[in-house]
Amino acid sequence: MSAPDPAPNPHATPEQVAAARHDRKLANVLYHDWEAGTYDEKWSISYDERCITYAADRFRHAAGDSGWPYERALELGSGTGFFLLNLMQAGVAARGSVTDLSPGMVQAALRNAEHLGLDVDGRVADAERIPYDDETFDLVVGHAVLHHIPDVELALREVLRVLKPGGRFVFAGEPTRVGDWYARRLGALTWKAVTTVTRLPPLQGWRRPQEELDESSRAAALEAVVDIHVFDPAALEATARRAGARDARVVTEELTAAMLGWPVRTFEAAVPPGKLGWGWAMFAYRSWLGLSWLDANVLSRVVPRAWYYNALVTGTKA
Ligand SMILES: C[S@@+](CC[C@H](N)C(=O)[O-])C[C@H]1O[C@@H](n2cnc3c(N)ncnc32)[C@H](O)[C@@H]1O
Repeated sequence: MSAPDPAPNPHATPEQVAAARHDRKLANVLYHDWEAGTYDEKWSISYDERCITYAADRFRHAAGDSGWPYERALELGSGTGFFLLNLMQAGVAARGSVTDLSPGMVQAALRNAEHLGLDVDGRVADAERIPYDDETFDLVVGHAVLHHIPDVELALREVLRVLKPGGRFVFAGEPTRVGDWYARRLGALTWKAVTTVTRLPPLQGWRRPQEELDESSRAAALEAVVDIHVFDPAALEATARRAGARDARVVTEELTAAMLGWPVRTFEAAVPPGKLGWGWAMFAYRSWLGLSWLDANVLSRVVPRAWYYNALVTGTKA
């Protein structure tokens, strides 16, 4: 019988944080256990029409919409369940297993699945050693997880091991090398601008308390440890092929949408929670939708795929 899953640890000691600076997996567990309770709010994650459509559109963009529903699906690095739970609600998969290195995230994902009445189980799991038998799943998915995994090829080998023959994997939300370059710069610029102008007396109501800003800066330092890779689309395709994938394919999305999205997210994090309201959220979302349309339908004809921010990789098991 396998050992029981470890318990979440949302309050790391300073010694643990110091050790995590040299141990990327420990950093992932501490950082994401700490984030688990507030993660959905921080990233505007919901389980309604908006995020169901978003998740299903990412999946369709990578892998099309034939073969739905996949009978049994696994998510790696599920976080709070954003990708798989919304894909299940969209009809992509009938039964799901959520896994994550962070026990706090697995708990949060199982709680969300229960509220939604979905058929989901969960385990704490390292994507480099997936604790399931060979040929268990029809589909393996992940969102924003590959860039945290030290050995991506090993993880993809594991994915192919647990897939049934003919099964498919889809990983979305991975940063490209070029996209990460401009997103980080735009984010840093926005943070600096907002935290500087909100020192001015008429704008001080828009300033978060200094301890919260300091905590965000400390979290950002740990974030630099957990963000391991950025991807070149052709190289990621080659990695998937080396791992044994058939029909490995990388598509990208979000150019101007990411150039808007990162400053907007940074701005939202830099001002007090609740200050911006629903009107702002809808304005930001509609602007993002409009720019995404422009990126997909106009700019993609002339701009190389490597310049887009998000990479999605898919493939099947022979
Ligand atoms: C950026 S979050 C994304 C969470 C979720 N997929 C989403 O899109 O909201 C990355 C997640 O990957 C998990 N993770 C990091 N390294 C991992 C590994 N080696 N194996 C499994 N999960 C990992 C983290 O704990 C975290 O929950």
